[in-house]
Amino acid sequence: MDWIAAVLVFVSLLLFLSAALGRRRREGEPPLIKGYLPFLGHAFEFGQDALKLLTKLQNKHGDVFTVLLAGKYITFVMDPHMYPAVVKHGRQLDFHEFSDQMAPASFGYPPMRKFSGMGEQVQRSFRLLHGDHLPALSKTMLRNLLQVMKHHFRSDQGPGAWQESGLYEFCHRIMFEVSLVTIYGHQIDTREDLEHLRDKFEKFDSMFPLLVARVPIWLLRKTQTVRKELISHFHPQRMAKWDNPSEFIKHRSEILHQYNTLGDLEHAAHHFAVLWASVGNTIPAAFWVVYYLLSSPEALSTVRSEIKAVLGLEDKQLSFSEDFTLTHEQLEKLTYMESALNESLRLSTASMNIRVALEDFSLRLDAKKSFNMRKGDTIALYPQSMHMDPDIYPEPEVYKFDRFLEDGKPRMEFLKNNKRLHYYLMPFGSGSSMCPGRFFALAELKQLLCVLLLYSEIELLPHAPLKLDMSRSGLGILPPTKDVQMRFRACNFEPEE
Ligand code: HEM
Repeated sequence: MDWIAAVLVFVSLLLFLSAALGRRRREGEPPLIKGYLPFLGHAFEFGQDALKLLTKLQNKHGDVFTVLLAGKYITFVMDPHMYPAVVKHGRQLDFHEFSDQMAPASFGYPPMRKFSGMGEQVQRSFRLLHGDHLPALSKTMLRNLLQVMKHHFRSDQGPGAWQESGLYEFCHRIMFEVSLVTIYGHQIDTREDLEHLRDKFEKFDSMFPLLVARVPIWLLRKTQTVRKELISHFHPQRMAKWDNPSEFIKHRSEILHQYNTLGDLEHAAHHFAVLWASVGNTIPAAFWVVYYLLSSPEALSTVRSEIKAVLGLEDKQLSFSEDFTLTHEQLEKLTYMESALNESLRLSTASMNIRVALEDFSLRLDAKKSFNMRKGDTIALYPQSMHMDPDIYPEPEVYKFDRFLEDGKPRMEFLKNNKRLHYYLMPFGSGSSMCPGRFFALAELKQLLCVLLLYSEIELLPHAPLKLDMSRSGLGILPPTKDVQMRFRACNFEPEE
């Protein structure tokens, strides 16, 4: 019962402090919306459906407003024509100030700014995820993907038998294992150990929104235990035994080793954070990409034909005993697939781009509008409102797999109020905080589709319409509220000798 008393004291203290020290709007600042609940403000409505709340506030208060959410005053800039102004204010609006507050609470390592030069070195290490380094990473990924798929497609009922699974469960299993071994290397653990790790990851991830909302982890005791176990998986002594880790992880370990005051478990916590970054969004993205394709016969047949044409495999049925290569040039030629992928990301992403003001300054948003910001203020973009804007995307709720194509080529021009938008699709964030794994993530998703569509038959079973789990709004790609059943089998399976 001690912890209940502690929670009550903690909450009462927060309510008292927020009533006593609450913010007051100053001249030149955006409209201030505190809501009726001290400290919490509009946190509950935001947690239930952020898009609905922000659209309501935009209609009432205009394109820029400050709202109280669980003790934080956040200024939202809602007009996408104003996004470039926010992204460009890099000198005064910083992302890493925010990530240095969020990451320790969520992943359990000390703020990077405490270690001279660490943040800069880590930023530079992101180059190992793209450019010239991407082909090698993608090649390893494809090899691992084929191996893991081969295992999952082997049916106890013999070759050609259908198996059933939840589609989300299937994508979780495949993408978790493949990403883990591709990024960290082959581990000493058995497949059963990996399943336990995956299970713990799922438990941690389900509580992630509370950690980001800064609920102290000691209040979520099971999560604290699960996080400790996940972190200890990445203990440097264990990692030293893993085979063939990516260059990115090798370099990250070298950087961390330079800092003697960083303990082994803090070192491990950094790696755990990368695991979350690399699969936390990729898993739900894989689900929606596959789900929408399977739901649209036209999209499915167009994308399947495109893969076969680009790879020159028109008359061939691949079996899991045959190898298969996929170059970057080939992946780039898959324009229908890329459009289908972008459309799925548009429909499922709800990330929030956050910046912290490093000084008092005036934020100029266009020729007419500017607002005063205070040092420490949080400014946010919420691109889901742009992705669902009917002026930019007619019938925004509808999946149109070729929406991002024009005359068979990638479409780059989207308009709002008849004016071309600089940013129109932002699942990976923007500017200095843009996801460094985005090219790898897209390659992973394309490879997954190639393998699924070339090697297998896969069908959704009858189901009620799916909904996005809005309780994770702000964190990235939203999972569905419920899984959907599907059946699958290899087109041409020859068991391994
Ligand atoms: C579909 C899959 C993915 C999506 C939608 C996604 C999206 C994002 C977003 C929205 C951010 C934050 C950007 C911001 O706040 O402005 C981010 C950060 C990050 N992502 Fe991804 N991501 C994906 C896959 C990956 C993968 C596969 C990796 C690594 C292999 C990765 C590594 C990272 C890292 C390390 C950061 C933090 C960057 C920093 O601290 O500056 N992501 N991602």
